[in-house]
Amino acid sequence: MRFPLVPARGVPALVLLLLACGGDTGRWAAFVPPPTPAEHQRGERLFNTYCLSCHGRAGKGDGLGPPMLDTLFHAPTVPDSMFLVAVRNGAKQKYYNFGAMPPLNRVSDVEVEAIRGYVRWVQGEGEAWARTRGGAPQ
Ligand code: HEC
Repeated sequence: MRFPLVPARGVPALVLLLLACGGDTGRWAAFVPPPTPAEHQRGERLFNTYCLSCHGRAGKGDGLGPPMLDTLFHAPTVPDSMFLVAVRNGAKQKYYNFGAMPPLNRVSDVEVEAIRGYVRWVQGEGEAWARTRGGAPQ
């Protein structure tokens, strides 16, 4: 009588596994960035404090907003200057379906610049990773 129980047990185990992975099935789910270089660690901490809840860990988009690793967030669609504009004024929904980004006035100009440096670095790592998986990143 033990055998019929096995599939039934397998299902909750799978659910737990998915939960442990954040349930993220997005295209960046398997991307693990290399250790953050010292020069971007402050930017990463600030990103994690102010941006991760929406843009996801390492910009993977496993939060309430879009993945910053997508090439839409690279220049030229999102030039460097747009980081400060987005943080000061918020951003309209344009390319995704998460609604608008609200202004985040607690983040200083200098902090935005550190965040931008980190995001550009992790975008480069994401792009390199996507290429090794057989194709240009989207
Ligand atoms: C409450 C959720 C939320 C938070 C927090 C958030 N964002 Fe956004 N962000 C969004 C959404 C939603 C968009 C719009 C995406 C779209 O549809 O194009 C966006 C867009 C952007 C854009 C593109 C702007 C444009 O005009 O195309 C930049 C740059 C950006 N965010 C940077 C940041 C940075 C840096 C932080 C942290 C300091 C941050 N965001 C925090 C939700 C958020």
